[in-house]
Amino acid sequence: MSKLEIKAGGIKLDHPVMLASGILDENGYTMKKILEEGAAAAVTKSIGAEERNGYISPVVVEGEGYIINAMGLPNPGIELYEEEIRIAKKSKKPVIGSIFAADPDGFLNLAEKMVDYGVDGIELNLSCPHVKGFGTEVGSDPVLVKEIVKTLKGSIDKPVWSKLSPNVTDIVEIGQAASESDALVLINTVRAMAIDIYARKPVLTNVYGGMSGSSIKSVGIRLVYEIKKELDMEIIGVGGIQNGNDAIEYIMAGASAVQVGTAAWKYGRGVFKSIMDQIAQFMEENHIRGIDEIIGVAVQ
Ligand SMILES: Cc1cc2nc3c(=O)[nH]c(=O)nc-3n(C[C@H](O)[C@H](O)[C@H](O)COP(=O)(O)O)c2cc1C
Repeated sequence: MSKLEIKAGGIKLDHPVMLASGILDENGYTMKKILEEGAAAAVTKSIGAEERNGYISPVVVEGEGYIINAMGLPNPGIELYEEEIRIAKKSKKPVIGSIFAADPDGFLNLAEKMVDYGVDGIELNLSCPHVKGFGTEVGSDPVLVKEIVKTLKGSIDKPVWSKLSPNVTDIVEIGQAASESDALVLINTVRAMAIDIYARKPVLTNVYGGMSGSSIKSVGIRLVYEIKKELDMEIIGVGGIQNGNDAIEYIMAGASAVQVGTAAWKYGRGVFKSIMDQIAQFMEENHIRGIDEIIGVAVQ
């Protein structure tokens, strides 16, 4: 057994570095390519019941160390997504279906279809910061979160991960509400915006967006740490990871595995293998025999 192997949130991974939802993953072929070139698993773009075109451009603004996006959850809708899963699964690696809906039945319908299509697990998007009626609006209501997770755990026999938002007052309360999940995924993007000073108006058509990239890493680390300390749940860390040291920081704060989004968008598909190699080198140099040995070791 390789020392990078890890079982995270009920899914066996060759190493702890996965593709995050929403980056290069609306299409089965791009997911398959990313999996073949090094990602341990891929999380799909968040898929809803109906096709959505997303917002009108500009939907992304880039700054030093971050991007802010307000895509508006563009996706083909669940009925047209089967083919993409089947193509991605040709890689023989785990594919996790990310879904968004407004209520427990909506999530259940989507999850059942994803499982039929062949996914290895479900990630509940309870955290998109810029689409009305979905995402954070659902994920900041602990009663609703509890009901959604309970409904899914009682009905499907694949691991269920809950992706939480940093844009809430009390992350532990929401984490607790989602505690029946096989893992919590932390964090989605941080609500943000940018102004075009010459046009004297917000850059994004939607005005508000979600910030990702290296600028949000410390926020992610803090939330993973807080949840690990208070709830001792399985966590998948995401937010600003660019290299092996960033990934190890998340693991030591309590994550069993990590996801990478913006760095893949910025530096390309090779980023998964380089992060994996850097983790392996750190483990070698520091005489660490397995990922399990360092999960949450920094938590006091
Ligand atoms: C362009 C873009 C689209 C995204 N779309 C989704 C999405 O559909 N569902 C979701 O759960 N997260 C989505 N995210 C959030 C990422 O999965 C991730 O949580 C966040 O970007 C932080 O990680 P990073 O700094 O590695 O990008 C998106 C992020 C970006 C940049």
